Amino acid sequence: MKDSPFVYGTIVSTNSFTNREVESAKLESNLLNGINTTIISPRRWGKSSLVEKVISDINKKDKKTKTIIIDLFSVSSEEEFLELFAHQVIKASSSKWQEWMTSGKEFFKNLMPKLSIGIDPTSDFSLSFDWQELKKNSEEVLNLPETIANKKGIKFIICLDEFQNLSSFKDYLVFEKKLRASWQRHKSVTYCLFGSKRHMMTEIFNNPSKPFYRFGDIMLLQKIETKKWVTFIRKSFEKTDKQIDENTAEIIPIVMKNHSWYVQQLAHYTWNVTHNRATDTEILIALKELISANTPLYQKETESISSTQLNLLKAVAKGETQFTSTAVMRIYNLGTPRNVSKNKTLLINSDVIHEVNNQFEFVDPAFEIWFKKQFFNLPYNLENTN
Ligand SMILES: Nc1ncnc2c1ncn2[C@@H]1O[C@H](COP(=O)(O)OP(=O)(O)O)[C@@H](O)[C@H]1O
Ligand SMILES: [Mg+2]
Repeated sequence: MKDSPFVYGTIVSTNSFTNREVESAKLESNLLNGINTTIISPRRWGKSSLVEKVISDINKKDKKTKTIIIDLFSVSSEEEFLELFAHQVIKASSSKWQEWMTSGKEFFKNLMPKLSIGIDPTSDFSLSFDWQELKKNSEEVLNLPETIANKKGIKFIICLDEFQNLSSFKDYLVFEKKLRASWQRHKSVTYCLFGSKRHMMTEIFNNPSKPFYRFGDIMLLQKIETKKWVTFIRKSFEKTDKQIDENTAEIIPIVMKNHSWYVQQLAHYTWNVTHNRATDTEILIALKELISANTPLYQKETESISSTQLNLLKAVAKGETQFTSTAVMRIYNLGTPRNVSKNKTLLINSDVIHEVNNQFEFVDPAFEIWFKKQFFNLPYNLENTN
């Protein structure tokens, strides 16, 4: 049997990557032309995949531009960030390990990084600083890519994933100012900063009183259209000697509201239970399987929200729009108008719900299906009610 053509859970940049032609072209042109770019979207819509794809295209055609992608998801302090940043910049600056080892002397004035090679010197090395010294001279690290770029006549593109994580560092506000002050002077380094926590990202980049205001272009990444998903799904089935007709294929993105991860996941399960040709029956089986696979996650998520928030979520699930009307507040037990407004903000800021065409909806389409079954005993079906 052939492997599934559908992939979820990891970044897709080659085989299972589809569409995003307009976004790829725009991002590539920005990054090659020195325009810093911020990308914002809810998680699992495809930011990391898009950046990886564009960077790999750039790597193929432009050898003088060194590219770096750093994921800040698990970085928890300024010092840790600076070490990782220095390490990645030095590593990307050369393919010769001898040059990695001399970079400490060559590119630093006050700081003295401890550099050591590993068992296989050609593949990687380790780097560390004295943290007291590092605190005093952090600019030297922040300016490192510009320093190296100028000395070597190269350029850098530096991409930082889950950028909003920086705001959990101690003394973040000071650090944020330092970052901006250094980076805005860089002429040979272009930054691509992206993240999933929309509320935090918008606060960092769109607040006129914050240092990163107007740092660069802001791209609000949208979902991939149904038509494009259908083509992708049908081709992927055909490639692996299975069939799915257009009307059936369309159900997958529609049920999953074009959410990239879930479209791939539902397509994968459908593909998996299909012998020759997929029909509604296979999709429904696949949907149940998908929900059941994700159930522990959804249970945890529900446990972490307060009961009045949960009630508000029920009102959203039922398609209510007037949350502060007396009837709605009473039926769903929403508390006072102040409670409603506070809970709404909390649910928005934690990306549980968002406003689409003047109406609130769940950010996570499969969570919504689970939620409706759990709390209203609505059966799974393939018609999307919204
Ligand atoms: N362009 C794309 N084509 C096909 N599938 C995609 C695409 N972008 C994202 N996906 C799917 O969505 C999942 C999440 O994508 P990812 O890039 O990790 O999102 P984000 O970084 O926004 O959280 C991927 O594992 C993949 O299944
Ligand atoms: Mg990501």
